[in-house]
Amino acid sequence: MEAIDAIMTRRSVRQFTPEPVSEADVEVVLRAAMAAPSAGNERPWRFVVVTEREMLGRLAKATPFAGALAGAPLGLVVCADRRSLKYPGLWAIDCSAAIENALLAAHAIGLGGVWIGVHPIAPLVWNVRRIAGVPKGIDPVSLVALGHPAKPREPVDRYEPGWVHRQRWDGPSPGDERDETLPKQEEDHA
Ligand SMILES: Cc1cc2nc3c(=O)[nH]c(=O)nc-3n(C[C@H](O)[C@H](O)[C@H](O)COP(=O)(O)O)c2cc1C
Repeated sequence: MEAIDAIMTRRSVRQFTPEPVSEADVEVVLRAAMAAPSAGNERPWRFVVVTEREMLGRLAKATPFAGALAGAPLGLVVCADRRSLKYPGLWAIDCSAAIENALLAAHAIGLGGVWIGVHPIAPLVWNVRRIAGVPKGIDPVSLVALGHPAKPREPVDRYEPGWVHRQRWDGPSPGDERDETLPKQEEDHA
């Protein structure tokens, strides 16, 4: 699948067939995650791959919105190693880039998945830490449920030209009625 196709057709998948995710596919997804950009190339991401049903069931209850894990053949606990980071404020952003890469790669190879938020909600971080045995210094950031989609999902195009500003926030957006041929002075005093 071409990159733009993968990006534009990815949807969150929360229902899966019982088919397991092959080790080869897990590696594709994790390689893609670890190919993400990160501040100073620090790559703080760490992963716990979960396939045991009992563990998946427990993780499904770690947050109010993690139900997809209960029926998923595979879960990822995406964590950040926060020990000795040179850029300490950016680990959650780095891990988010890795998660999006993972979801896109999963979609590109015919899998589906959903991002399940954990950080920065302290009680959810605590739940996931306890269930997955994540040690001090490493922080759970998010969960991801992965598997073979039970049914296809329709792509949506969410492009909002009005949310784009040119040069400055008060600059024109594509589709603005503003007549860009007017000299700036005249426009300001119109
Ligand atoms: C930071 C973040 C946290 C999310 N947390 C959850 C979650 O806890 N449970 C869930 O089912 N979906 C979660 N989602 C998925 C969003 O609901 C989903 O991406 C959004 O509704 C757009 O739909 P789409 O992914 O199908 O395009 C999360 C997405 C992000 C980026």
